[in-house]
Amino acid sequence: MGLPRERTLILSLVVLGMCLCQITSRTPSDTHISQKHDLWMARYGRVYKNNAEKEMRSNIFKNNVEFVESFNSFGDRSYKLAINHFADRTKDELKAYATGHKDPVDLKSHVETSFKYESVSEVPDSMDWREKGAVTEVKNQGTCGSCWAFSTIAAVEGITQLTTGKLMSLSEQQLIDCNRNDATGGCKGGNKENSFAYIVKNGINNETGYPYHAADETCISANEASRVANITGYEIVPANNETLLLNAVSQQPVSVSIDANADEFKYYSSGVFTGPCGTNLTHDVTLVGYGTYDGIKYWLVKNSWSKDWGIDGYMMMQRDVKAVEGLCGITKQASFPTA
Ligand SMILES: *[C@@H]1O[C@H](CO)[C@@H](O)[C@H](O)[C@H]1NC(C)=O
Ligand SMILES: *[C@@H]1O[C@H](CO)[C@@H](O)[C@H](O)[C@H]1NC(C)=O
Ligand SMILES: *[C@@H]1O[C@H](CO)[C@@H](O)[C@H](O)[C@H]1NC(C)=O
Ligand SMILES: *[C@@H]1O[C@H](CO)[C@@H](O)[C@H](O)[C@H]1NC(C)=O
Repeated sequence: MGLPRERTLILSLVVLGMCLCQITSRTPSDTHISQKHDLWMARYGRVYKNNAEKEMRSNIFKNNVEFVESFNSFGDRSYKLAINHFADRTKDELKAYATGHKDPVDLKSHVETSFKYESVSEVPDSMDWREKGAVTEVKNQGTCGSCWAFSTIAAVEGITQLTTGKLMSLSEQQLIDCNRNDATGGCKGGNKENSFAYIVKNGINNETGYPYHAADETCISANEASRVANITGYEIVPANNETLLLNAVSQQPVSVSIDANADEFKYYSSGVFTGPCGTNLTHDVTLVGYGTYDGIKYWLVKNSWSKDWGIDGYMMMQRDVKAVEGLCGITKQASFPTA
């Protein structure tokens, strides 16, 4: 028969039922997370293929938000975490970011001299090579295990500015494409010292001359005109000694390797990072200074995870720790170019 009034009633019950159902299956915290996720997607311009992907990403996002909020709820930490551009990624997807480090191979055949900063007459209490104009903008390696190239290049940009007075952004892509051998495998990981050795032989182009694509590409053979910067050699800081590392960083930016596997490292946002981390090296970064913050001595770390990570792309990592390896193994494989 279908009287209009009955229809309305049935419709109302159906609608009410849907509402109740939504209310019971979505807790206020789910709604809060879902709104947060939408805002986050807008901020980072993230678009998903379909609802299934959105739901999958939303769950990862939720776990990360909970991790960050729970960490920050402890008042006694020397640093804070924040949700950043990594927040909807699986651990596997983030692997490329923090596992691009490889140990050096066959360095004996390369130009390497002794350590010239064994004793430095004056080591200032603090140093920030950014203030001296020796550090370029923070870059973004993307989903390519090329941290080693960024670490190498930042140190070369530093020594080039210190010796020529010119700050130039130099090419990571050239190292990825042209320096592939046993030690370095492009986006699959590589080594800083072998990269310095490549630059000693071949020089290096600048960022606009040989731009970054976060992928393994064919080497564009470097002609003399595109050798925008040269180094004459590189030196290794004797391992397991923070005093000697400090000597070196007081004189120029230095490439180091660390263990950056912890989630606390990935979501670090401010303060002095004190771990957790081991000393098995996974990631390469550049030390561009040091100082003391809130009574804790720190190394100023330039990372290659964009300005959305850390303090505009930088981290303060605890310095002067008990273990000779330093925090996260920072003293184990430090080196710097010479010019
Ligand atoms: C980069 O190097 C190229 C040569 O490859 C040069 O023509 C250009 O002026 C340089 N650009 C900058 C910004 O230094
Ligand atoms: C780098 O070295 C090459 C080869 O010796 C030389 O031709 C070029 O002028 C050098 N470039 C700079 C900027 O020093
Ligand atoms: C670090 O090196 C300096 C200078 O060679 C040395 O005096 C000091 O004992 C070393 N420290 C450690 C912990 O090895
Ligand atoms: C660190 O490396 C050592 C030696 O290769 C290995 O035995 C150990 O399991 C590694 N630790 C972690 C946490 O990966």
